Amino acid sequence: MLTAQENKDLTSVMPGTPMGELFRRYWHPIAAAAELDDRPTKAVRVLGEDLVLYKDKSGTLGLIDRFCPHRRVDLSYGIPEEHGLRCMYHGWMMDETGQCIEQPFEETVHPDGRFKEKVKVAGYPVESYGGLVFAYLGPQPAPLLPHWETFEWEGGWSDIGIVELPCNWLQCMENSMDPVHLEWLHGYWGVRQQQDKAVRLGLAEADSFPTVPRRHQKIGFDVFDYGLIKRRVVEGTTEEDHDWKVGHPVLFPNVLFVGSVVNCTLQYRVPVDDTHTMHITWFFYRAADGAEPPKQEKVPYWYVNLYEPDGTLIPDLVNHQDFVAWITQGPNAEREKEKLGESDRGIILYRKVLKEQAGIVQDGGEPMGVVRDPEVNKRIDLPLERWQALSDVTWMTRYMPLQQGEPPELVSTIEQVLSTWAGEKPWTEAQATLNQ
Ligand code: FES
Ligand SMILES: [Fe+2]
Repeated sequence: MLTAQENKDLTSVMPGTPMGELFRRYWHPIAAAAELDDRPTKAVRVLGEDLVLYKDKSGTLGLIDRFCPHRRVDLSYGIPEEHGLRCMYHGWMMDETGQCIEQPFEETVHPDGRFKEKVKVAGYPVESYGGLVFAYLGPQPAPLLPHWETFEWEGGWSDIGIVELPCNWLQCMENSMDPVHLEWLHGYWGVRQQQDKAVRLGLAEADSFPTVPRRHQKIGFDVFDYGLIKRRVVEGTTEEDHDWKVGHPVLFPNVLFVGSVVNCTLQYRVPVDDTHTMHITWFFYRAADGAEPPKQEKVPYWYVNLYEPDGTLIPDLVNHQDFVAWITQGPNAEREKEKLGESDRGIILYRKVLKEQAGIVQDGGEPMGVVRDPEVNKRIDLPLERWQALSDVTWMTRYMPLQQGEPPELVSTIEQVLSTWAGEKPWTEAQATLNQ
């Protein structure tokens, strides 16, 4: 149990707070790169700061203060020029460092004036990679943007799902260190939700789905170079199964990496502020060996639906079941009222690591997992369960959406990629140890 103050210290990401400073040592995705092709400005709130992301006509990306330094209008309505973002109100223009580079009327009246040189707003580095735009809001020199192996994979297809959740980021991350919720939230309640819907739609008889999940027998956790790993043994599996042997990594401080050799997700839980989280999921679908996936010029994005038409949270897809748990804990869960048990060992470890790493930053050090070596960053391999999904080819070739709202044309492309596995023999564990 934490005190209310400890809870605040563990969850607030505002500038100057322990977690705010820790999060400002890592790169965070703030948009899909393709969003800027559709509209060249995007209002972004991240780590409690109001910013605007834009792409100017020369293709340079900028992330600067959202409000014009002149009289504070919203620059997400501004005009991207050849180099810089121009305010629509009186034409002042800022470059990607936040420096004011034009003040049309001031320059007419005082051609030799130096007013604009004294006007500068925040401007943060951004980088486009893997179809995402990442930002770094911390002190210079910025570390390298990590090149997780996923972004270097070939022979597959990816897209990006984006949704803003009305809850603090820590609720999302604690769920990723909580193996037992799989059994109840997904295996029991979630299956019932799916069954109820199928019955309502006349697609199934009542009680036709199994609702007895396999019970967890053992859970375990480790810290590794880039984060933490959670492991489980459930009824019918052993410590030789990949669920225990490999486990699922959480990339510190706020990314879940989960999946199999056929498909995977990187789920970024980016703090918007202390009561909102931008959930950005990078999905990857691999084609069978030797099959050609569809050509992909850009990584498409879509906005995830969170609510049913009646205003309740969507419950019947796996990631939405997690969303329900996180959101219903409240805007910021009252941890001073919680009662932790054996199933919460991973959460206790994660909180301890967060505090330790925030302490390192406060002492002027570098926290875990920050990448500065270009050699290391050529491709950072991660633990990933390989063989389990491949033991049932029928199941793998079927697309099962994790989040709702994906446009039908993207669904049919994914189905095309997954169909390449039809007719494959189930892999043995030995084959599956091959990288990728
Ligand atoms: S408010 Fe932006 S130029 Fe005047
Ligand atoms: Fe979950």
